[in-house]
Amino acid sequence: MKVTVVGAGNVGATCANVLATREVANEVVLLDIKDGFAEGKALDIWETSPINLYDTRTVGSTNDYSKTANSDVVVITSGLPRKPGMSRDDLIATNAGIVKSVTTQIMEHSPNAILVIVSNPLDVMTYCAYLNAGVDSTRVIGMAGILDTARYRSFLAEALNVSPKDIQAVLMGGHGDTMVPLPRYTTVGGIPVTELIDDETLSSIVERTKKGGGEIVNLLGTSAWYAPGAAAAQMVEAIVKDQRRVFPCCVWMTGEYGISDMYLGVPVILGKNGVEKVIELDLNDEEKKLLAESETAVREVKAVLDGMN
Ligand code: LAC
Repeated sequence: MKVTVVGAGNVGATCANVLATREVANEVVLLDIKDGFAEGKALDIWETSPINLYDTRTVGSTNDYSKTANSDVVVITSGLPRKPGMSRDDLIATNAGIVKSVTTQIMEHSPNAILVIVSNPLDVMTYCAYLNAGVDSTRVIGMAGILDTARYRSFLAEALNVSPKDIQAVLMGGHGDTMVPLPRYTTVGGIPVTELIDDETLSSIVERTKKGGGEIVNLLGTSAWYAPGAAAAQMVEAIVKDQRRVFPCCVWMTGEYGISDMYLGVPVILGKNGVEKVIELDLNDEEKKLLAESETAVREVKAVLDGMN
């Protein structure tokens, strides 16, 4: 198996490092436009192989897409990250051009690849990649839900003083402040979280989750990378190993939840064909209302991209 990660910035390099360390593929190609950057990061990662005991060959390339040929999965992280005071949506004009160009070049060399999109604004950049990839929508998937639920689960683990391993959760909607964590579908070792935590603490964790990306941007002056990189790698692993894992992912909607013609976050089964199935939950009125608000927010950004094309 061969996996390419486009963009050797913090998120892309972290993703490549996790993919290599976990031996998700035999070969990981890291590609970037900045001269020598991907080669340097890939070499540094490769030099950890005798220490971390893995043999995934990790190589870098400065914009030479022939090196990415016949990749099974390609992660696209290219684009500008957020600065303090910016929303993810402020990045659309710049990042749409980058995602379009990268997607086109990737598909020329790897027509059978499954694409995992990480660039922001996530839901609309995944749509942008889909428009330019020329493949079935089940093969173009956005990474956001795993990251957002990971934040939610890590905050819950801290509040409950339990292992994050035991916290399972679902979250829906766009990758922005309107995302919809679902406490009714959150469990701790199989126990509904609502039996273990008071409403006020739970609500504050839900609110913190929605602004989880911004919390890191404010601390670092740029956006996060450890959790986004690991989340993208987890999606790649599910696809490459045909694990059929159940994850919230950003996917093309074809009537599920009454939503069509847009990319949005919903729970899916992820396997060798990409999106194997969208799981439809029986949402209550409040959850439906929150999802509709998130849908509206993403549609507004999508309209900007549609207007550009
Ligand atoms: C975040 C960015 C990657 O949520 O969107 O940290």
